[in-house]
Amino acid sequence: MTVPEKEWIFARLARYGQEHLLRFWDELEPEQREALWEEIDRIDFALIERLYRGGMDDERVRQLAARATSPPFFRLGDPGNPIPPGEARRRGEEALRAGEVGAVLVAGGQGTRLGFDRPKGMYPIGPVSGHSLFQIHAEKVLATGRRYGRPVPLCLMTSPATHDATVTFFAQHGRFGLAEDQLHVFCQGTMPAVDAASGKVLLADRGHLALSPDGHGGMPAAISSSGLLGQLHRRGIRRLFYFQVDNPLVRVCDPEFIGYHLLARSELSTQVVRKTSPADRVGNVVQVDGRLHVIEYSDLPEEVAQRRNPDGSLAIWAGSIAVHVFDVDFLRRMATEAERLPFHLAHKKVAYVDEDGRRVEPDRPNAIKFERFIFDLMPAAANAIVVEVDRRTDFAPLKNASGHQEDTPETVRVQMVALHARWLEAAGVSVPPGVPVEISPLVALDADQLAANVPHDLRITGPTYLGPTLTR
Ligand code: UTP
Repeated sequence: MTVPEKEWIFARLARYGQEHLLRFWDELEPEQREALWEEIDRIDFALIERLYRGGMDDERVRQLAARATSPPFFRLGDPGNPIPPGEARRRGEEALRAGEVGAVLVAGGQGTRLGFDRPKGMYPIGPVSGHSLFQIHAEKVLATGRRYGRPVPLCLMTSPATHDATVTFFAQHGRFGLAEDQLHVFCQGTMPAVDAASGKVLLADRGHLALSPDGHGGMPAAISSSGLLGQLHRRGIRRLFYFQVDNPLVRVCDPEFIGYHLLARSELSTQVVRKTSPADRVGNVVQVDGRLHVIEYSDLPEEVAQRRNPDGSLAIWAGSIAVHVFDVDFLRRMATEAERLPFHLAHKKVAYVDEDGRRVEPDRPNAIKFERFIFDLMPAAANAIVVEVDRRTDFAPLKNASGHQEDTPETVRVQMVALHARWLEAAGVSVPPGVPVEISPLVALDADQLAANVPHDLRITGPTYLGPTLTR
């Protein structure tokens, strides 16, 4: 690659007040200059300027919130649903047997709150096995394919921050049993962080910009530009089950959920849990003018969050857990329009080098990051539906380090053990109180499968991991 003259780059940057990015240019080696130029060249500085000047779009969110109502919904397993659960399950199973379903797992986040120095998917969350989030998810995908006789392709989104470590981890573990052509890794894009006070792009070091992943909403553009979306379509994949790396309880490719999506002719279906309080820290799934939207918990005005129905329940009750099904055709349409997805601004701590080249580790938020969110696809989807799941059994996100109040390794493990103990009890195996148990997805994906697979002589007296070798 030929690197333009410094003066030319300087003039281009100066148009946007970003010429400080060349402050250390003269001390860089030729290959370092090339790397820096490549980073600069990829940035749409006019966009960065517009986003920074535009600030937080509070007014739009306030207007949306004022008109928000709760969406109609299905509840998983509820015989009172407009579509009976059995019918939905059969339809979903049919799609899985026909090989029409793929999975997309987004794992490009930096996991800053967890404070783990590797990609979050590598975190050893298994309460007895110590298995990683990646292993648990990969085994669910593998087991689903085995159950329905057609392998489910797993599309794994990484970011430059997580890519190499993730690819190496999967290779070291034999892709956790997934066939080579079943695992597709694609990398999302980045956005620069800017100084909150001036809007100037931060330098991570003398020769690199402070870049971070462009949000889980970067998925449609990344999966499309990697060529993967077209490839999936050619292979007959028509729906993609979307999930995030931090929730080990997610029912990957649940046939009942997929069945509602298909029978309702929905382009996008989403799972929610019932909020436990007005301030519950989940995004709020709401309906405005017949379309679904998500309003983040931090953006929902207090008086809207506090609204109650006559029976005292919360009016805005549906909390997003970021589990969706997308029609592949919808994603293809959105990928070309992905540029229309808004960027959200977040005030974050970002390390940088100052004017003298000294590295600064700020102790409070100093920067603005720009991210797209996947749920902003919702209003564009025809017939979007909401499916309520039980928080205890379906949602245990790993967000925070030990010591925090919620969503820590400890709280996640407690929920995993409780769920698996319930499955065992339902299969006639008693679990002494306080004894940790864990079931590999390769043994059972749900209570029914466990009842069919559990060894009859199983006695639990101490910590127990039911892995594939323990099955009958
Ligand atoms: P979070 O919003 O919880 O972010 O991501 P995070 O990076 O995991 O954690 P913090 O906020 O830095 O502590 C939810 C999901 O979206 C993915 C994450 O990997 C996780 O599965 N994600 C997030 C991406 O894939 N890319 C992104 O740019 C951001």
